[in-house]
Amino acid sequence: MSAWPLLLLLGACLGHTVVMVFTMNWLYGCPLPKKVMQPLRTIYAVLILTGCAYFAGSLYRFNFDWSRLLAGSYPTVSAYVGICWVAAFVMCPLTTAYNWLIRNPAVLVSNHTRTVDVAKELGFKPLGLGKKRYLARLPFNECFQVDFAERVLKLPQIPPAWDGLKILHLSDLHFCGTPDRSFYHCVIEHCLDWDADIVAVTGDFVDTDRHHRWIVPILGRLRWKIAALAILGNHDAWREAALVRRRLRRVGLRLLDAGWETLDVRGHQMVVIGHEGPWFTPPDLNGCPADGFRLCLSHTPDNLPWAKQHRIDLMLAGHVHGGQIRLPLVGSIFVPSKYSRRYDGGTFHEGPTVMHVSRGLAGEVPLRYNCRPEVSLLVLRR
Ligand SMILES: [Fe+2]
Repeated sequence: MSAWPLLLLLGACLGHTVVMVFTMNWLYGCPLPKKVMQPLRTIYAVLILTGCAYFAGSLYRFNFDWSRLLAGSYPTVSAYVGICWVAAFVMCPLTTAYNWLIRNPAVLVSNHTRTVDVAKELGFKPLGLGKKRYLARLPFNECFQVDFAERVLKLPQIPPAWDGLKILHLSDLHFCGTPDRSFYHCVIEHCLDWDADIVAVTGDFVDTDRHHRWIVPILGRLRWKIAALAILGNHDAWREAALVRRRLRRVGLRLLDAGWETLDVRGHQMVVIGHEGPWFTPPDLNGCPADGFRLCLSHTPDNLPWAKQHRIDLMLAGHVHGGQIRLPLVGSIFVPSKYSRRYDGGTFHEGPTVMHVSRGLAGEVPLRYNCRPEVSLLVLRR
């Protein structure tokens, strides 16, 4: 027997997995209640395994002859097998290549990353008391190795006085017990070395009903020269959002909510906008100044089309955590976005908007492989 039937079986199973993961990612990009989201992964795991078992069983039944299998199956099954092959042999390699090509656009002048092994620096693993802390112990888990990425963005539209303006971008802190508070304290101490002008935090502060108490002691250590801005994410929406907002305000962070305000930045006006959609109301830009630089904080990168439509110059986003587990060459798999893994992390330029998507600092599940937590300093240059 030649290897072709088995290769086609592998393609059908891979394509089926790709189709399932793509639809699951799309659903995770929707504002569904947490109760609906939780069983989705299990349902999809069952669907993937059932599909692969069905293909393998059918091929065995037809004596490894694909032509007989396709002729003897329902037309919908045959058509679906075709879709799976296209997904495996055409779409998957093409989208992977495209995803690599769209990263690092010309506006990203430089990107220097320094990795700090927080566990090594503390002298212990800051496992904390989170429900899933046992996962943080797994070998090769990078959840305590933080990338401090200094990215220089060339934005010719900024006023000369803003040349060198530093924006510290933090995202997805997910206070839930693991990592422990010592982890966040260590990260914030390193951030202070950057001496940022503006601090921007793009949501997902808490993951339990208790850990909003960490906001003041941890984020209260942040310092900035001009302003600190924040929006909430979907995980905050599933908890006591009003309490989270109150605590953030107490440490001096300006909650943009679903609105906009103007900042005086080195004598020039900057319009700062918050987009917490689709989990909260999208911003209303009525009365928003038509001129001037627009900085938008959006929890999800899925709001990029909105940003382009509303002439946002720079959008900061998080939410997708880089996929948390990234396979060599292939990249991320599970990304909660309607665009699947297209905007899973890094810098993107789709005129007139430049978007930086952070991999975030933590997650509800403390698993990171080939996808370290990230804090970024964006330096604006003319
Ligand atoms: Fe998150």
